[in-house]
Amino acid sequence: MKKRKTRVVLVGCGGISNAWLGSESVQNRVDIIGLVDIRPEAALAQAQKYGYSNAVTGADLDSVLRETRPDVVFDCSVPESHCPVTLAALRHGCHVMGEKPMSDTMPNARRMAAAARKAGRTYAVMQNRRYYPGIRALRRFLDRGAIGNLVAVHSDFFIGAHFGGFRDVMDHVLLLDMTIHSFDQARFITGRNAERVYCHEWTPGHSWYRHGPSASAIFEMGDGLVYTYQGSWCAEGCPTTWECSWRIIGEKGTILWDGGDTFHCEVVSGREGFIRPVRQKKVPLTCPKTLAHGHSSAIGHFLDSIQADGVPETDCTDNIHSLAMVHAAIKSADTNRRVPVTI
Ligand SMILES: NC(=O)c1ccc[n+]([C@@H]2O[C@H](COP(=O)([O-])OP(=O)(O)OC[C@H]3O[C@@H](n4cnc5c(N)ncnc54)[C@H](O)[C@@H]3O)[C@@H](O)[C@H]2O)c1
Repeated sequence: MKKRKTRVVLVGCGGISNAWLGSESVQNRVDIIGLVDIRPEAALAQAQKYGYSNAVTGADLDSVLRETRPDVVFDCSVPESHCPVTLAALRHGCHVMGEKPMSDTMPNARRMAAAARKAGRTYAVMQNRRYYPGIRALRRFLDRGAIGNLVAVHSDFFIGAHFGGFRDVMDHVLLLDMTIHSFDQARFITGRNAERVYCHEWTPGHSWYRHGPSASAIFEMGDGLVYTYQGSWCAEGCPTTWECSWRIIGEKGTILWDGGDTFHCEVVSGREGFIRPVRQKKVPLTCPKTLAHGHSSAIGHFLDSIQADGVPETDCTDNIHSLAMVHAAIKSADTNRRVPVTI
């Protein structure tokens, strides 16, 4: 028997909605029955572009939800709207999957998680950078004990990105708009939540951003494991990938990962010498297809989870730990102190 498609209203019809509407998971498994944007012409334009001629479009979320009664709301609106959109969708009995970051503030994130629990519905966050072959292969390699217990994880993020628009004028631009991806990757790679952080944030003299395009943070991840992040959105030349360049150090060796498909791993092979001898180990780049396609894989995993009454990997109860790293780093930068990471 053919499975019924999941009935979805998508909110926020800007740039990133294309990654959702154009994804294989949405094309094959979802019926978009409504599109909402505070600019109704944007909702109409996406309905036309993706061929949803019967979808209800408009600017008023409540009335579109009343009219269409969807199973799920996809929230692709701006960070300040994630809380009101999610709360409204939960009030209408919908499951929600929303863009990162979960929310603009920790109190709003807590409110959203509590509302999902109370409604008995799933609210999950898009963390597409978990769904690529490289990070999945790395995680599997580490789980097999290839370099022993982790002792330190370091990530570099340097991209001279000229977005224009809201990012040029917002506060804490790198920490608020980008590091959620890297910090969430660090949690995925280490399997740990952060406990404390010290962060220094600055605006270089030549910056085309008003505030905070550069930051360095040191996170304590428990049991002596340290995760460091260095990043900048106004570093011209020699860019890293958007997934960061990583050095992962375990008791038995080190892995270098470019954030894409390239690894170099060396493990100790002898007990003598000032520098101990090492041998190279291959990191097999194998990954199930269902986990290898960014947005599409994350949406597919979410749909599988709600159909099986399961809990998706980036459920709000988990993802709030990644968001807490962002807000603790900001607090540390603002106060020039080492601060606890609390949810
Ligand atoms: N996962 C990723 O890799 C990735 C990449 C880019 C952006 N994002 C995230 O996606 C979200 C949207 O970013 P974007 O680049 O598409 O921005 P955008 O400005 O292009 O689009 C946002 C859209 O939301 C609409 N909107 C704003 N408030 C709304 C509300 N209350 N109700 C309905 N619509 C509303 C705007 O009118 C606009 O059309 C942000 O949270 C951003 O951080 C994620």
